[in-house]
Amino acid sequence: MDKELHQQNGDGQVRQGDTARQEDSGTAERFSRSGFIFAAIGSSVGLGNMWKFPYITGQYGGAAFFLLFTICLLLIGLPVLMAELTVGRGGRGSASSSLVRLSGRKIWGGFGVLSIAGAFFITSFYTVVAGWTLHYAVLTSANALGKGTDFAATFFSFIGGWWPVAWQAAVMLITGWIVVRGASGIEKFNRILIPALLVILIIIMIRVLQLPGASEGVSFFLKPDFGKLTNESLLVALGHAFFSLSLGMGTMMTYGAYVDRRQSLGAATLAVGGGDLMYALLAGMIIFPTTFAFGIEPAQGPGLAFIGLPAAFSAMPLGWLFGGLFFVLLAIAALTSVVSLLEVPVAYAMERWRLSRSTATVSTTVLCFLFGLPSALSVGGAVGWLHWEGKSFFDWVDFIASNIILPLGGLMVTLFVGYAWKHAAQEAGLTAGWFRLWLFLLRYVAPVLIVLVFLHTSGIWSF
Ligand code: PHE
Repeated sequence: MDKELHQQNGDGQVRQGDTARQEDSGTAERFSRSGFIFAAIGSSVGLGNMWKFPYITGQYGGAAFFLLFTICLLLIGLPVLMAELTVGRGGRGSASSSLVRLSGRKIWGGFGVLSIAGAFFITSFYTVVAGWTLHYAVLTSANALGKGTDFAATFFSFIGGWWPVAWQAAVMLITGWIVVRGASGIEKFNRILIPALLVILIIIMIRVLQLPGASEGVSFFLKPDFGKLTNESLLVALGHAFFSLSLGMGTMMTYGAYVDRRQSLGAATLAVGGGDLMYALLAGMIIFPTTFAFGIEPAQGPGLAFIGLPAAFSAMPLGWLFGGLFFVLLAIAALTSVVSLLEVPVAYAMERWRLSRSTATVSTTVLCFLFGLPSALSVGGAVGWLHWEGKSFFDWVDFIASNIILPLGGLMVTLFVGYAWKHAAQEAGLTAGWFRLWLFLLRYVAPVLIVLVFLHTSGIWSF
């Protein structure tokens, strides 16, 4: 590897001119340095941290799972995140053209389009759940959920009606309104909302930690019992590390294209990984104390946030305030992620069909909304009959995007930087030792683990 490293660095000199040309031919939009960090943390911190992470932690082993997740994040997640950012900045194009530009081979562009389709699919159903959070934010803060009512029935009758469509439309409109402003608009929005998110998390955490019985929840989350781990825990942890860091969907590649040449990608990777972990930790420090204090099952699955927690908040003094804040928090986390997801197909459309940003944004937003309609209505709503093999339309889109395209997209980037792109060293700007470690993880460790996750989540191989 040494010789190769030398070649890569040596070549770097020759490639300087190339890079300069790429700068000219690629996108001219740029994030400021801190703006990029906020935007990337905004992308990674989402419903994955606040909604999915707590219930899978509940299901797959509590604190031991959290530890496993942290290890997966560090060993596999961060190297792949770094790879996506490096490709994005090196190529200065969409998640498809950057790969072509850097490798000189068209075939990579096709793989890139797969990730872009994945981002489009995720946007279509993620905005549905984001819409639910907005609805609950309004309902809870208006104290309209009631006390001691059947929260499951309330939730199912809501998702079975037409309101989810209106809320999804609202989410799409807000997202489009931000994305149309380009990199500078995206950064401005995240710069305000990401610190706001932290403040809200801390306020709610301080409140719920004072509930009687909260400490049991804290120890469930932070005291590991390794006996609870299974093989499946590892695969779920790894899959979630990918989802949580927004990998495999072209998001970080697309954002990477707007990163300033002088920014350290290594430092940015650490900041985003650290931010993601911190927000997940804080979310856990809210959800587990709350569920334990009110005797709610933390492993109840997706219903935890919309059924279990509203029940808990309604039983708490000033519950409308903290419950309302909690759902505002979920909505903000979701919006900052949706913005990064929508940007992926928008950037592609601008480049591929030479559209202006506004035309690309409006058309992608409308298409996404239309494609998301059956998702909004298939979980008990007007097209509730749209089931196949026990999965609704919503479940299928989620399954194909999160369990199939996401690991394949992650594998693609790993192999691209590990084997196909010969000049990653220069763009990455790592010291020789770190570069070697990075390349080693990308070449030998990440691909094997990602393939295992893929076989597992796609249902091809269960063990
Ligand atoms: N990382 C986001 C979350 O945790 C979801 C996401 C996945 C966003 C893939 C962009 C791309 O919720």
